[in-house]
Amino acid sequence: MIAQAAELAEAARAAAKLAYAPYSGFHVGAALLFADGAVVAAANVENASYGLSLCAEASAAAKAMGEGRRGGLVAIAIAGGRTDAAGDVVLGAEPVMPCGRCRQMLHELAALGGTDPVVIGVATSRFTEVALSALLPHAFGPANLA
Ligand code: THU
Repeated sequence: MIAQAAELAEAARAAAKLAYAPYSGFHVGAALLFADGAVVAAANVENASYGLSLCAEASAAAKAMGEGRRGGLVAIAIAGGRTDAAGDVVLGAEPVMPCGRCRQMLHELAALGGTDPVVIGVATSRFTEVALSALLPHAFGPANLA
């Protein structure tokens, strides 16, 4: 368990509250922790043309890279669930783990800095931690094009 897991989980949960998810009703937040201590968080952004929707992890990776970050990715927390009447995200019993496309997007950012970040899935009463390399073994990445 990384020291900042609880703080990062809370950042992911706060981001999930800001999701634009009127079609699925499923709010997801992703918080990326960098080696310099910075946290970049974002939520899923859906579209009336459903297939164009962006996952929280993809939004967060794009946000971080758009801010100029190229590596230094230490950890990623993901929190997802439906909202209650007050607009709070109710986490599920099972943690949300990144979809296949998002694993690839996170790998790009991690590979640029040579890190293997821990992915933290946030559920109601527990965290699941797994290395990104275990979620995407034998990944294709920047090194393949060098
Ligand atoms: N979603 C994420 O943002 N991240 C995931 O890891 C899984 C799915 C979003 C996409 C869509 O807006 C909604 O959750 C339902 O699939």
